[in-house]
Amino acid sequence: MSQVKPTVLVTGGGGYIGSHAVLALQRAGYEVVVLDNLVYGHREIVEEVLKVELVVGDTSDRALLDRLFSTHQIAAVMHFAAYAYVGESVVDPAKYYRNNVSGTLTLLEAMLAASIKKFVFSSTCATYGTPHTTPIPEDHPQNPINPYGVSKLMVEQILSDFDAAYDFKSVRFRYFNAAGADPSGLLGEDHDPETHLIPLTLMAALGKRESVSIFGTDYPTPDGTCIRDYIHVTDLADAHVLGLEYLLQGGNTEVFNLGNGNGFSVREVIETAKQVSGKEIKTVEGDRRPGDPPALVGSGDKARKILGWNPQYSDLKEILSHAWQWHLKRHSLVE
Ligand SMILES: NC(=O)c1ccc[n+]([C@@H]2O[C@H](COP(=O)([O-])OP(=O)(O)OC[C@H]3O[C@@H](n4cnc5c(N)ncnc54)[C@H](O)[C@@H]3O)[C@@H](O)[C@H]2O)c1
Repeated sequence: MSQVKPTVLVTGGGGYIGSHAVLALQRAGYEVVVLDNLVYGHREIVEEVLKVELVVGDTSDRALLDRLFSTHQIAAVMHFAAYAYVGESVVDPAKYYRNNVSGTLTLLEAMLAASIKKFVFSSTCATYGTPHTTPIPEDHPQNPINPYGVSKLMVEQILSDFDAAYDFKSVRFRYFNAAGADPSGLLGEDHDPETHLIPLTLMAALGKRESVSIFGTDYPTPDGTCIRDYIHVTDLADAHVLGLEYLLQGGNTEVFNLGNGNGFSVREVIETAKQVSGKEIKTVEGDRRPGDPPALVGSGDKARKILGWNPQYSDLKEILSHAWQWHLKRHSLVE
């Protein structure tokens, strides 16, 4: 007889990575409740596609959290809810510290009050700042260069202190560039505004945008454009289930990079998108953006070793083709 698995609260489960994590949890047999304020999340994805309970609300609403924790048997929390626009964080840092730090602290305090002490956290490679080695290992110094990265580093620090003081256990995942869409075609990336290279490129392929911009063509990389590590969102989601199970089995607080250890340049992404879509994609070359390191590539070796993580989709063509299929469906170009 199969055992009933515990219930997991997924904050930000209406968003891109959170919704994929909900699907991965469901596939692994967990019950899920989603908390999302729907500022960027999609109600229909949670209620109609994933068919899980959606609590519409904010992580800063302590009364709501207390109610939620007293009416549901939550064993652990996966925390995706945050604002993640780097440029916006530079011009409006207060918004980022309030939501990403203060909102998270409220959530953590409500968890403590309810004696829930297992937490999986979406951190980011942006906490490393400009790296001095590549692929970046987890013990690389963290010197974020924008308020978004600082806000995530602050939460990492809070989590270390919570472990020392309250025996609160967490897994922090520092993601590289999340990309692609679940191969089932059920879910995909639907940000508004969109700032990520792959969806912007595919929208240009679909004619939904005039062109895609290349920011900087004089970087010290083989083709002069920035190199990033694209990690399939389904592989990310699977890592979250493994991180959760590690905590449920009594694992200690840990940090893991989630990257493929393999980078692709902006030009390589655009060329591959042309092959996958069979469309011409117009590019516009511009200046470098301040704070864009030439290359960001992360070693996922620690997650492989400790969690048994085994990413399935590290091929760029496959990542793009899943994203393309989803974009076609999203824009109702295929049934
Ligand atoms: N997309 C990436 O490549 C990437 C890389 C590194 C880290 N991350 C982190 O992963 C997480 C998810 O990213 P995403 O791309 O899925 O973003 P997303 O915007 O698609 O999802 C975030 C979700 O959280 C919700 N939300 C935001 N603040 C909230 C709050 N205070 N209370 C309740 N709900 C709230 C939003 O409505 C949205 O549905 C974020 O924490 C982000 O910082 C993402």
